[in-house]
Amino acid sequence: IVRMVPVLLSLLLLLGPAVPQGTQDGPYSLTYVYTGLSKTVGDIPKFQAFGLLNDLSFFEYDSKDRRSRPLGLWKQVEGMEDWEQDSQLQKAREDIFMETLNDIMEYYNDSNGFHTLQGRFGCEIQNNRSTGASWEYTYDERGYIKFNKEIPAWIPLDPAAHITKKKWEAEPVYVLRAKAYLEEECPATLRKYLNYSKSILDRQAPPSVVVTSHQAPGKNKKLKCLAYDFYPREIDMHWTRAGKVQEPTLSGNVLYNGNGTYQAWVVVHVPPKDTAPYSCYVQHSSLAQPLVVPGDAS
Ligand SMILES: *[C@@H]1O[C@H](CO)[C@@H](O)[C@H](O)[C@H]1NC(C)=O
Ligand SMILES: *[C@@H]1O[C@H](CO)[C@@H](O)[C@H](O)[C@H]1NC(C)=O
Ligand SMILES: *[C@@H]1O[C@H](CO)[C@@H](O)[C@H](O)[C@H]1NC(C)=O
Ligand SMILES: *[C@@H]1O[C@H](CO)[C@@H](O)[C@H](O)[C@H]1NC(C)=O
Repeated sequence: IVRMVPVLLSLLLLLGPAVPQGTQDGPYSLTYVYTGLSKTVGDIPKFQAFGLLNDLSFFEYDSKDRRSRPLGLWKQVEGMEDWEQDSQLQKAREDIFMETLNDIMEYYNDSNGFHTLQGRFGCEIQNNRSTGASWEYTYDERGYIKFNKEIPAWIPLDPAAHITKKKWEAEPVYVLRAKAYLEEECPATLRKYLNYSKSILDRQAPPSVVVTSHQAPGKNKKLKCLAYDFYPREIDMHWTRAGKVQEPTLSGNVLYNGNGTYQAWVVVHVPPKDTAPYSCYVQHSSLAQPLVVPGDAS
């Protein structure tokens, strides 16, 4: 999210070059997101899986070609995962997942409707210690069932989820396995992945900034400040008019480029007779000092 933090900005100016974030290691997270559709819509496969390391997608799998593929910067990472073997795992998970979706539709006597099931599970570590994990499902975007690893048990959030709970707890060992997955297997996978991914996740890529100006006759001038190719995601950017911070007329959500970088923008409208100087300020953890780009550069 684009935020305006003038106080932080002036503090950073006083402190000078950015310093590394101490010796804190992480937090780092590994998250899997599974989506199942009761029917194919256009080109969208009935089942899709993807994995995230922190905020970055590192692999995908779908029911069309049934292969796990590394994504983005992970295409260049060698040896982190055996993708052939992972494809087998995702195939097995796809079958169970789609079976669950069918069970729910059967329960509601609705085998012709359009429905979606989404599963999300994963874990987090900080300073190499496990600091959190969760596993939950939503059906048609409402809570369906979630795992409580302290009990441990599946907690139904929807009437149909009682049949799922019954299946997934048919043997006592099933819940123990789910608990062990979240508390041991998932953090172990995350540690292994970090061995190959730390440099990607800890990377500091400074933003490039361009200002563009657009004016229709007799209308306000529209100044757009675009920051791109930066990582991590957090960024502060705003316009100033004669040194005073302006509320942006429009600010773009931070967009992920798919190649491990983000872009974001803020727009301000300048009345035709306004001759005050406008500047775009951009502050990011990779920068020793904020970038200041004048609005009338063009
Ligand atoms: C589904 O149909 C069966 C048999 O007709 C009925 O007993 C059941 O209550 C229905 N379920 C729901 C959720 O409407
Ligand atoms: C991280 O934790 C794991 C499991 O507890 C341990 O095997 C490993 O040696 C630890 N690594 C570091 C760098 O402390
Ligand atoms: C970490 O990665 C190196 C190669 O970069 C590999 O030799 C080593 O076995 C890996 N260690 C673990 C625990 O995966
Ligand atoms: C990332 O993708 C964006 C949008 O496609 C592109 O403008 C940018 O140059 C790319 N950056 C890198 C570092 O490849």
